[in-house]
Amino acid sequence: MKESTGKLLHGGDYNPEQWLDHPKILEKDTERFKEAGINTVSLGIFSWAFLEPEEGVYRFDWMEKIINHLYENGISVILATPSGARPRWLAEKYPEVLRVNSRRERELFGRRHNHCLTSPVYREKVYQIDYQLSRRFGRHPAVRMWHISNEYGGECHCPLCQEAFRGWIRKRYQTTERLNSRWCTAFWSHVYTDFSQVESPSPLGEDSIQALDLDWKRFVTEQTVDFMRQEICAVRDGGSDLPVTTNLMYDFEGLDYARMAPELDVISWDNYPTWHKADDWTIALDACMQHDLMRSLKRQPFLLIESCPGATNWQSVSHLPAPGIHKAAGLMAVAHGSDSVMYFQLRQSRGSEEKFHGAVIDHYGGNDTRMFREVCDTGETLEKLGELAGTETRARAAVVYDTENKWAIKGSKGPRNKNMYYKETVFKSYRALREQGVDVDVINETQDLTPYRFVAAPMVYLFREGFERKLREYVEQGGTLFATYWSGVVDENDRCYLGGTPHGLMDVFGLRAEEIDGLYDGETNGIVPADGTTSGAAGGRYSCAHLCELVKPTTAETLMVYENHFYGGMPALLKNRYGKGTVYYLCADAEQRLYDSFYPEILREAGVRPLLEDMRIPKGLSVTSRENETYRYLILQNFSGEEQNVLCPAGEKILGGEGNRISPLETWVFRQKK
Ligand code: GLA
Ligand code: ZN
Repeated sequence: MKESTGKLLHGGDYNPEQWLDHPKILEKDTERFKEAGINTVSLGIFSWAFLEPEEGVYRFDWMEKIINHLYENGISVILATPSGARPRWLAEKYPEVLRVNSRRERELFGRRHNHCLTSPVYREKVYQIDYQLSRRFGRHPAVRMWHISNEYGGECHCPLCQEAFRGWIRKRYQTTERLNSRWCTAFWSHVYTDFSQVESPSPLGEDSIQALDLDWKRFVTEQTVDFMRQEICAVRDGGSDLPVTTNLMYDFEGLDYARMAPELDVISWDNYPTWHKADDWTIALDACMQHDLMRSLKRQPFLLIESCPGATNWQSVSHLPAPGIHKAAGLMAVAHGSDSVMYFQLRQSRGSEEKFHGAVIDHYGGNDTRMFREVCDTGETLEKLGELAGTETRARAAVVYDTENKWAIKGSKGPRNKNMYYKETVFKSYRALREQGVDVDVINETQDLTPYRFVAAPMVYLFREGFERKLREYVEQGGTLFATYWSGVVDENDRCYLGGTPHGLMDVFGLRAEEIDGLYDGETNGIVPADGTTSGAAGGRYSCAHLCELVKPTTAETLMVYENHFYGGMPALLKNRYGKGTVYYLCADAEQRLYDSFYPEILREAGVRPLLEDMRIPKGLSVTSRENETYRYLILQNFSGEEQNVLCPAGEKILGGEGNRISPLETWVFRQKK
């Protein structure tokens, strides 16, 4: 376990290049930053045109002045590579850097995040500017970390990318025979006779081979990772060995972040919850699932590197977060393992796309705005919680949520093309676990299962290589697994497994899946007790919708059955013992209440203890923990909208008022000696 850095970062994206003709404003900004307890600034994310106004002409003096000025005022810098938005001259001189869409149309100059990541010219120009920045600023004492590019994403279908894709496919499959067999191209006679025939998916051409689609998405990830690696290499070549991060996005499915994580020293991400769109607890939990996912990518503290002070102007409606939300949302990130609360943006831009996006300093510019006061308050609290920096979360429960699996579920025709509700189903497990007051990791299929006593792996339709072995061993060794319908159906090429599903696990689960029923919107069935059961969770009645799987048990015990339709009376929830462990298998998309009723029993059986053992946790009270060698920190947050009575746990309360009543949006932190 690493030493605590003793400091949580507080700050955000700063774009001084928009204000170079207003030196007084820049001076004033620093004063405001200090006032608000801002200790870190992300700089240069979109500065390329100011850093290299003409090809090969580098102008870094203005940047140096700003970095020096921040340094003199005790503020650190996370320095960006500017590859997220290119200068106009670059696109004019080298049109190959412009992206081509899936309809094979080349884009014009504009927007951002829209470059061809294969283009040798783009790579070369990015390498040069990154290298120069690293040489000039990589050893500056203010600079603490590299912010590599910005929100990588998107795909390019240009001839260069097609060539690279073909090369990648050839390397992966070696022969067209193997390619045809893996991609099942005998279907509709789409057989390839030469690798040169391979093209990326297109609405104008091939869009019926799901295996091609999956491989294209993998290739886009690989190409992006490779591009990012080259950027990291440029800052290393420039002489800097500072840690690198890149800012990831909410529930982003354009890239498989599991492949990016190993290349990064620190995971960071941008969080923009739609507060007040649903009840605040649901919105909070939804963001928490992403925080937990980000932390789990490397199983280490991460950074909340962007969040919005105020209203987010790109959302369909820019709703103001009510007083107190700002600080609670920031501390929520910390509660889940973030070592920072950072914002987009520190100063609001004057024109263009984001002029109405929330900011620490708005167009008015004063320090007497509601948001500025809330940011100050947050800064003060973060200072008090400095000792949490670097502490880790050691969850004993995990939920599997896998990007490749998501691609495959979405890409397949049937059993419901309207919506398979994969994320929603994962979220039901996540919510039930969190409401029991346990820490939860959100992991992918490639990750280690051994740290957990309980794993929920809902709808794992696609088994990444070896996943069935991993699940088998996990259960064999005593783990408790919660599995569901639509599991182990296809391999990594979206080829259906032969000989029965869930593939390779029919003995472990004690059943075989036979058929799956897609329900029309609004149609429901019931899940009712199996004969003779009257008590406990299995004694209830729950409704289910969307998908109902029909299974044939072998050794599994039937806990609950379907209520209606021709499969009324058939198993809907089963339990099987295998090796030293237990498997629960839920056959249908059941309502939340089923999870809420069963999980307390299952967790008790699995030996996962809630963080607050002596009390029933009221709905909306978040409980998480972080720890180091000496201390465990228990963090309580009240998102219930009402004051709540809490049986205070042992330890010293290092944040929060006296007494047993926690106010709405209040955060308490207890320090317990281990
Ligand atoms: C993203 C980008 C930022 C900014 C914000 C606005 O997270 O990284 O540059 O555009 O969105 O919310
Ligand atoms: Zn391209």
